[in-house]
Amino acid sequence: MRVDVVSIFPEYLAPLDLSLIGKARANGTLRLAVHDLRSWTHDVHRTVDDTPYGGGPGMVMRPEPWGDALDALAPPELTPDGLTPDGLARPRLLVPSPAGEPFTQAMAHELATESHLLFACGRYEGIDQRVLDHAATRMRVTEVSLGDYVLFGGEVAVLVILEAVTRLLPGVLGNAGSLDEESHAHGLLEAPMYTKPAAWRGHEVPEVLRSGDHGRIARWRRDEALVRTVTRRPDMFAALDPASLDKRDRAALDRAGFQVPPGDVAK
Ligand code: ADE
Repeated sequence: MRVDVVSIFPEYLAPLDLSLIGKARANGTLRLAVHDLRSWTHDVHRTVDDTPYGGGPGMVMRPEPWGDALDALAPPELTPDGLTPDGLARPRLLVPSPAGEPFTQAMAHELATESHLLFACGRYEGIDQRVLDHAATRMRVTEVSLGDYVLFGGEVAVLVILEAVTRLLPGVLGNAGSLDEESHAHGLLEAPMYTKPAAWRGHEVPEVLRSGDHGRIARWRRDEALVRTVTRRPDMFAALDPASLDKRDRAALDRAGFQVPPGDVAK
């Protein structure tokens, strides 16, 4: 996967050299480049922002440097087979913004199928809307939000999104099996995990996990996942198909004080 990130603070993206993302870059799974938006300014002050039309506090990012940056990283001209001059499909432009589509594990999976992601990190009050409108005539544009809070800019959101996406790329995670069991993989939070020692500061690892009985362990983990999800994330629980809950699931929920409305029961 190719990834380009444009920011006025490229140093903010330095952690992308570390750990498994750094490894994915080193072995070529991830071709990642971070660009300074100011390299597409043409005035002596390297200006990227200005006051908002219509008034109001703060500054807005001017369209010209962004237009040139996107032209450079997603060239407007295409070869006859619809590819950019370097043989790639047009990138998917992602613009972190508190007004964007909520970022979810499902979106991470979707983004992991793309060949080229281009991130535009806004600062201040955001990027002039015409940049996004114009880009949308040439490529898919998605504004994406990490959550219902406001950050100083998009850089931290890019770190989060890239961490969630790159770990889904084939070969990046040492043990790909863990992808199937983790929180959000099947609309449930993951059960708690434990390691050695079996007793620590008076707290014991649940006996079932030390039993070696894989059937009981799987059942215990499923029960914990269900009860955790219904108590911590009622929104996720409500989104589950009740038909996916079998009699034993319902019994576990019932024991925890949650009755699932009658409906189709999975076998
Ligand atoms: N930029 C500022 N706030 C943001 C948020 N909540 N998500 C993504 N990008 C942002």
